[in-house]
Amino acid sequence: MLDWPELESACLSCQKCALAETRHNVVFGDGARNAEVMFIGEGPGEQEDLTGKPFVGKAGKLLDDMLTLIDLDRSKIFIGNTVKCRPPQNRDPLNVEVEACIGYLRNQVALLRPKIIVCLGRIAAMRLIREDFKITKEHGQWFEKAGVQMMAIYHPAALLRDPRKRPETFEDLKVLQAKIREICTHTY
Ligand code: URA
Ligand code: SF4
Repeated sequence: MLDWPELESACLSCQKCALAETRHNVVFGDGARNAEVMFIGEGPGEQEDLTGKPFVGKAGKLLDDMLTLIDLDRSKIFIGNTVKCRPPQNRDPLNVEVEACIGYLRNQVALLRPKIIVCLGRIAAMRLIREDFKITKEHGQWFEKAGVQMMAIYHPAALLRDPRKRPETFEDLKVLQAKIREICTHTY
């Protein structure tokens, strides 16, 4: 296991998959390196690729609003992705790409030892919770893995495409907020 500076520098110069050829910036992830709550998205989009920061485009703005709804300060959580380089045209990351990249995320989880992991969307949930995870049925439910409480909610990009999913997501966020109040010790 690498420490934060080693991990970040390995990641920033990574050439382990073909996404290295088309990326502008590696999006290592951002936030508190002692966070109790971690959010994990799918992979960088255009704005993230251009800035090197996670969730800064349209979906990111919605994520900010979602966090504000439950009084979560972005600087006190950690936001990462299943792949750290942008898939061209924002296609789903390929299995080989996620396989090549997932070790960085696992190292981040090992360093953080978060109490709660929130998967944003199906891709992250299938990787981190269960291979056959069904986001439409299982969003908002808790799963415990190695002492970590895990939940998936709809990806903010899905909420932009289909606003009818927003009320359910609001309920999920309330469930998340209750769990944070129950088991986290930092103030938010
Ligand atoms: N969508 C994601 O899944 N991750 C980002 O960082 C931005 C948009
Ligand atoms: Fe390396 Fe991950 Fe980027 Fe592929 S997506 S080049 S594995 S950092």
